[in-house]
Amino acid sequence: MGKQGSVFHNHPSLLFLLLLLFEVTAVGRAARLNHWESAIRLPSQKDEPREDQELETKWAVLVAGSSGFGNYRHQADVCHAYQLLRKGGLKEENIIVFMYDDIAMNELNPRPGIIINHPQGEDVYAGVPKDYTSEHITAANLYAVILGNRSALSGGSGKVVDSKSNDRIFIFYSDHGGPGVLGMPNTPWLYAMDFLNVLKEKHAAGSYREMVIYVEACESGSIFEGIMPNDLNIYVTTASNAQESSWGTYCPDMDPPPPPEFITCLGDLYSVAWMEDSETHNLKRETIEQQYETVRKRTSDFDAHANGGSHVMEYGNTSIKAEKLNLYQGYDPATVNFPPNELSHDMHMGAINQRDADILFLWHMYKNSEDGSMKKEILTQITQTMRHRNHLDGSIDLIGKLLYGPAKGSAVLNAIGEPGLPLVDDWQCLKSMVRVFETHCGSLTQYGMKHMRAFANICNSGVSHSILEEACVAACGCHDLRQWHPSNQGYSA
Ligand SMILES: *[C@@H]1O[C@H](CO)[C@@H](O)[C@H](O)[C@H]1NC(C)=O
Ligand SMILES: *[C@@H]1O[C@H](CO)[C@@H](O)[C@H](O)[C@H]1NC(C)=O
Repeated sequence: MGKQGSVFHNHPSLLFLLLLLFEVTAVGRAARLNHWESAIRLPSQKDEPREDQELETKWAVLVAGSSGFGNYRHQADVCHAYQLLRKGGLKEENIIVFMYDDIAMNELNPRPGIIINHPQGEDVYAGVPKDYTSEHITAANLYAVILGNRSALSGGSGKVVDSKSNDRIFIFYSDHGGPGVLGMPNTPWLYAMDFLNVLKEKHAAGSYREMVIYVEACESGSIFEGIMPNDLNIYVTTASNAQESSWGTYCPDMDPPPPPEFITCLGDLYSVAWMEDSETHNLKRETIEQQYETVRKRTSDFDAHANGGSHVMEYGNTSIKAEKLNLYQGYDPATVNFPPNELSHDMHMGAINQRDADILFLWHMYKNSEDGSMKKEILTQITQTMRHRNHLDGSIDLIGKLLYGPAKGSAVLNAIGEPGLPLVDDWQCLKSMVRVFETHCGSLTQYGMKHMRAFANICNSGVSHSILEEACVAACGCHDLRQWHPSNQGYSA
C-alpha cells in the first residue's frame, strides 16, 4: 500500500473530509454553470421545449446514390452532411451512411484521401463511417436500414435505424434521378412507390415520432407528387419539381469555381444550400420552414432561374416545418450567437444540369490529358456515351411513333399530368415496361432516367406488355447493345 493509503487508513476522518470537500466543489460548479447558462439564454429561447435526451434519439440516414469521379459531388454532399450532424451532436451510432467510397482514393482525386464540398472547404471525408459502400449500396439495403430490419440486410456494417416511438429521423439523399426513380450505384433503382411503402411500414410500426426528408435529384418532386400522404408525420422537401433537372454546382469554368486542379463539380445546388444555411445559423432558433425558404430562394437562383436552378418543393405534413431544425440536425454550441435566419447576399451560383455534369467531367479529363493512349481512351468513352444517349433518345422517340402514330408519339410520351397527380397509376407496370425496353434497347443508364416519364405514359395509356415489346424489337432489333446490355449492369427495375 502506498503512503497515501496509510495516511487515510490512519485518519479516516480526513478521507471523509476530502470527499465532502469534493462534493461541495462539484455542486458549486454545477450551480455556477447553470447560473451562467441561464444568464446567456436569450429571452426568445425561454419557451423552447426542452429535449429530453433520455427519451428521444435523433437518427439520420445519408445516401449518395452513385459512383465514379464524375459524380464526386454527391458523395461530397453526403460526407459534408455527416460532419454537420456530428457537430450537431448526433452520435455516430445513429447516423447511417450509404456512400460508394470510390472518391477519396480515386486516382483522379487531386487531393488524395480528402473530399471537399466547397471551393475553400475543409476535408469532409475523415471519420465518415463506411456503413454501406460499393456493392452494398442497394435500394433493398436502404429499405432494411430505414425499417430497422437487420435480417433483411445483405452486407454492410449492420447499422440500422433502430428507432423508438419518440425518436426523430432525418433522411438526406443526393444523386441522379428521373420521373418516379432515384439512382442507386447498383441496380435496380429506387422506385417511388416502394420507398413510400417503406415509409408507411415504418409509420405503422410506430417507431418514430416525426421524420424530415431532403432529396436532391432530377425530377425529385415526382417521388412524392400525388402519392405522399400528410398523415405519416413526415415532412419532405425536394430539390426540383416533378419535371425538371436539379443542378450541380462549384463546377469547373463556373462561378464560383472549384480549385483549378479539380475537373469535377464539388457539390449540388440544393444540397450545399441547406448545409451552408445550417452551418451559419443557430439551429435551436431557426425553423425548418425558414431553411426551406432560404434553400428555395437560393436553388431557384432567387426566382430568376437565370443560371439554371430549380423549384424546391415540399410534401407530406407541412405542420412539422414550424419545428426548430436542431430537432433533426442537432445543435453546434459554436453557433450560439449566429442568427436564426438571414439570407446571405450575392449568392448567385453557377450551376449545371445534372445530366450534363458527367459529360463536362469527361471533357475536362480529355482536355487535361496528355496525347497518347489515355487521351484516345477518354475520347472513345465520350463518343460511346454520347452515341448511347442518342440511341436511347432515338429509340424512345421511335417507339412513341410506333405506338401512337408519327404525329402524336412524342406528345403522348412527354405529356405531363396535372400537378398533384402521381406519375403513373400502376407502378408495377412501370417496372415491367422498363425491363422490356432494356432487354431490347439496352440499359437506360444514369442519363436514361429522364425517359421514365415515357414509360409511365405508356402504362397510363393502357399499352400492353406485348405491344411495347413489339415496338422495342422494331426500334432496337438491329442495334448492337454491347456494353449496354442489361446483363452487364443489371436491370434498372
Ligand atoms: C425483415 O426482413 C425479413 C427478410 O426480408 C422478413 O422476412 C421479415 O418479415 C422482416 N421483419 C419485419 C419485422 O418486417
Ligand atoms: C401533422 O403534424 C402535426 C404536428 O406534429 C400534427 O399535430 C398533425 O396531427 C399532423 N397531421 C396529420 C394529418 O397527421
